Amino acid sequence: MMDQKSEKIDNTDQLEKPVVIPAEAYISPEYAAAEQQRLFRKTWLQAGRMEDLPNVGDFITYEIGPDSVIIVKSGESELSAYHNVCPHRGRRLVDTLPGQRNARGTRKNFICGYHGWTFGLDGENSYIEHEDDWQGSLCEGRADLGKVSVGTWGGWIWINLDPECSSLADYLGVVPEMLDPYGLQNMRPRWRKWVVFECNWKVAMEAFAETYHVSTTHPEFNAFGQFRGWARNHGLHSNIGYEAPKGLEEDSGKLRLGTGEDPRVSTAEMQNFTWENANTNTTGTLVGVANRLKDEVPDGTPAAEVSAYWIKTAREEDAARGVDWANVTPEHTAKAGTAWQIFPSFQIGHAVNNMLCYNARPYQGDPDKCYFEAAVYELYPEGEAPETEWEYTEPDDWPPVLQQDFNNMAAVQQGMKNVGFRGAQPNPYMERSIASLHFNLSRYMGMGAPRSRK
Ligand code: FES
Ligand SMILES: [Fe+2]
Repeated sequence: MMDQKSEKIDNTDQLEKPVVIPAEAYISPEYAAAEQQRLFRKTWLQAGRMEDLPNVGDFITYEIGPDSVIIVKSGESELSAYHNVCPHRGRRLVDTLPGQRNARGTRKNFICGYHGWTFGLDGENSYIEHEDDWQGSLCEGRADLGKVSVGTWGGWIWINLDPECSSLADYLGVVPEMLDPYGLQNMRPRWRKWVVFECNWKVAMEAFAETYHVSTTHPEFNAFGQFRGWARNHGLHSNIGYEAPKGLEEDSGKLRLGTGEDPRVSTAEMQNFTWENANTNTTGTLVGVANRLKDEVPDGTPAAEVSAYWIKTAREEDAARGVDWANVTPEHTAKAGTAWQIFPSFQIGHAVNNMLCYNARPYQGDPDKCYFEAAVYELYPEGEAPETEWEYTEPDDWPPVLQQDFNNMAAVQQGMKNVGFRGAQPNPYMERSIASLHFNLSRYMGMGAPRSRK
């Protein structure tokens, strides 16, 4: 039921104009079946954090569709990634226990539980029972683990299942230049949760990839002032952010000031609400200083000065306990925005002292389900970061603001299957990130391309 007066878009300039996105990318079983091969086996995927592998022998697994990868710290300054499958008869080498997101542990070597083939941290086979029976044919790496391309950036470990892949640096494009100033590699998780949703992984990611939904889905935030959001394309990736009111340009990042009658009060209210109901996008220090603004800043102080005092005081308080925020210029803040959508399925919501990241992955090839996960990070004094694991968390047990987002997901999935749905029409300014995702998806998938409106 696609609009007849439309044509496939073929370059990123067209993302600035209205587009229609056919529903197939979200609901078609054929599309979902092709995704593993055409998309997830071709792209760089964020597979874990480097702080999860502090010592030689530490490993994690990363699961994407039917594929599983072992990532191991194989030397003092070396990471290796291997296909998680025994080359003997195909047993998955490291099991992920039921209820766990992934396996994690420490090994001197990996021993297959079926017939005992053994592999060193370098992936090479070191033991085969009755090896002579193979008459010398297990040479040339045939008994070794298959290598997977691995790279690091921003404190994350990235893998690519494509033996012919381009470099991680090429893939990330402008992203490191825009986000390196925030020192994301210095942040450590405060919490990380995962869940299975009744929607396509794109529906889940898109719920966080735009600011257009905020005034309706999260009406409580309207009390703290209206900010106009934008979304921009950067090749494979995109970012979103807010336009700051005049004179509050430094406020265009995450550390926004409330804009009520008394900025001291509205900032404290916004911070307390965010802390209690989202448990993200702020830190204990920022909340604490916001609550003292009324005592420490004179009544009638202009909003820009309240903001400057709040940020400066919180920065100093953190510095005194050994937590140094990144220094980012207002110009850079305005360009970097509040979040980056890293193609295809990772979002980094960055700030100078904390971040919120989302990921989604397909669930067993079912277009109507996905794994969804979120992690909140902040800066800690050396050695004081909490030990966290990925916790499976039912939707009702997530912070309330995130539950508001979750409430749209299954309903969008159902709605898109309706015979009368004529394709998504994202806001060309505020939701360009969604058009950008589907434009890039269509180039990998060979289907589902957004169409321009005539
Ligand atoms: S399948 Fe691994 S040793 Fe046989
Ligand atoms: Fe939201």
